[in-house]
Amino acid sequence: MTTIDENTEQELRSNLELIGREDINDLESVLSFVGKYEVEGFHRVPDNCPAEFTWDYEKGSKPQLDKLYEKAKKAQWNGQTDLDWSIEVDQERVVIANAEANPAQMQWDEAAIAGTVLEKWDEKRFLQFGVENQNWLLSQFMHGEQGALLCTAKIVETVPWIDAKYYAATQVMDEARHVEVFSKYLDEKLSGHYPMNAHLGLLLDDIVSDSRWDMTYLGMQIMVEGLALAAFGFIHAMTTEPLLKKLLRYVMADEARHVAFGVLSLQEYYKELSAAELRERQEFAFEAAIRMKDRLVMQEVWERMEVPTADVIKVMQAAPERDDFQILLFSKIVPNLKKLGLLDAADGWLRTKFTEMGAIAFENLTDSTEDEDAFADGSPVDRQVA
Ligand SMILES: [Fe+2]
Ligand SMILES: [Fe+2]
Repeated sequence: MTTIDENTEQELRSNLELIGREDINDLESVLSFVGKYEVEGFHRVPDNCPAEFTWDYEKGSKPQLDKLYEKAKKAQWNGQTDLDWSIEVDQERVVIANAEANPAQMQWDEAAIAGTVLEKWDEKRFLQFGVENQNWLLSQFMHGEQGALLCTAKIVETVPWIDAKYYAATQVMDEARHVEVFSKYLDEKLSGHYPMNAHLGLLLDDIVSDSRWDMTYLGMQIMVEGLALAAFGFIHAMTTEPLLKKLLRYVMADEARHVAFGVLSLQEYYKELSAAELRERQEFAFEAAIRMKDRLVMQEVWERMEVPTADVIKVMQAAPERDDFQILLFSKIVPNLKKLGLLDAADGWLRTKFTEMGAIAFENLTDSTEDEDAFADGSPVDRQVA
């Protein structure tokens, strides 16, 4: 269905055009797309955005970005030496301990699995599922961090202001450290890797290939990192494994700065955009939100565990509280989109979309420019965050 936006007289694109399906909750369509490693062993995306030199070297022209840059320089930590890598991780014991500590999130309801292959699984198979979950989750964190590494390197090239180039350079270092620690954790403490989730991959390709510099910010700093910050917070609160807990806490201290960087950079710029330009940003934010929601289905794990699609759908539909958890992950994104004016532009098109997703209630939470971690003094190690 297409409708016309009265402000811009542009045709509004339908869900089918934006995300490839009309119903955002069409699980069969979501599950049909599974991440695979390319045979070449790498993935190449054309970057269509021009690199920009600026001759305006005036440091502090953007005072809030300058302040964030100065904080970032003092907030560095070393992934090799600041974490206790001697801690041993027994994955199966972690699965059991986490399920005991968080029964609502991690224990299967008998009614939900009735009539599916899961009904015949023994305890060992359920444990294996829990272990695969850990491997998948940490793999996605690692791939997402590499996405952030490439995107912030791109921001250094493409953003027009010197204060933002300086700040983004510190974030390139942060993201390198994040890829490094997640990769080390996977190799030394877990038992297998997964390819990047197909839906996350689509989104990162769109972000990297877009020709407009602010789309890297919107896609990565606001959407991907906003969701990551909420997800890290959730796993940090839930996990009983001390090394992962500390690792996530340190990463979160950096991510708070990254999301604040996105909001601080875009809020002025978006005031200058036309209604038509804002509309494109709204559509992009919606597409990103759906792609990220789609990846939470963990297609690659179900495939490895040989669960037929029909059974996955049955299990998911019988456990609506899992949906509630997925929606929680939008708690950082929605207030930031509001701050940027994207919820309300074009007669509140994006507000309607988030209302349909069930995530609009987060709009009144504080946005990321007020996150304490973002402007904290010193590294998370010195601050002894917990
Ligand atoms: Fe990161
Ligand atoms: Fe980040």
